[in-house]
Amino acid sequence: MLNFFKNKQTSITTNFPDDFVDIHSHILPGVDDGSQSFEDSLALLKKMHSYGINTIILTPHIMEGVWENSSLSLKKRFNEFNDFLKKVNFTEVQLKLAAEYMLDGNFNTLLKTEKLLTIKDNYLLIEMSYLNAPLNLYETLFAIQIAGYKPILAHPERYAFYHNNYAEYSKLKEAGCLFQLNLLSLTKYYGKEVTTIAKKLLKDNLIDFVGTDTHHDRHLNYLERINSTAIIKKLTPILKNNEVFK
Ligand SMILES: [Fe+2]
Repeated sequence: MLNFFKNKQTSITTNFPDDFVDIHSHILPGVDDGSQSFEDSLALLKKMHSYGINTIILTPHIMEGVWENSSLSLKKRFNEFNDFLKKVNFTEVQLKLAAEYMLDGNFNTLLKTEKLLTIKDNYLLIEMSYLNAPLNLYETLFAIQIAGYKPILAHPERYAFYHNNYAEYSKLKEAGCLFQLNLLSLTKYYGKEVTTIAKKLLKDNLIDFVGTDTHHDRHLNYLERINSTAIIKKLTPILKNNEVFK
């Protein structure tokens, strides 16, 4: 009987505050490894809206040699997607365009030559290779801030090369890097080690923001599995932090 009550848990998908902003998603169709069609993107938006997410920042990859997107090409695609949403009368979710910048050689050029697509104001979403950190990582973080941006590192818990070098996370924070946790890292989606580090970063209060990093429907199904009362309690102030992007 006790177990029955113990198991009656609510999911994160019923706990998003009204002004929550998802700052990491690959829902702009056909520009990266995320959604590939207007229809699929619409279905993702509808499902996220049913979770109480009303503002979503679209953050397609900008990655040299892999996803050769530019501010201009993404803006064009964003306009086309908005036209489609208008045509089907979907106005429930507010969308904004930004990008997820890979710290590669091309990024250093873009930083010097372009106005980058930010999450809001000067907040910039960045990522690294999953194999290793760039050699000039700390110089790049410095250059980003000198250029007037505030770097937010996407999914720090997913960089396996830091798992046995945990002290590096504090070093990154001291270098001015903010951390965005992927909510799915709290499920088994990316594996056990990622979950362990995700929980440790949360416990150590190193996480500033969260994101869904939604690419497809399976990601959203996994989101529903975040149902531990303790985890949801720990996430509550961080979900509120995301409101600054409204
Ligand atoms: Fe991403």
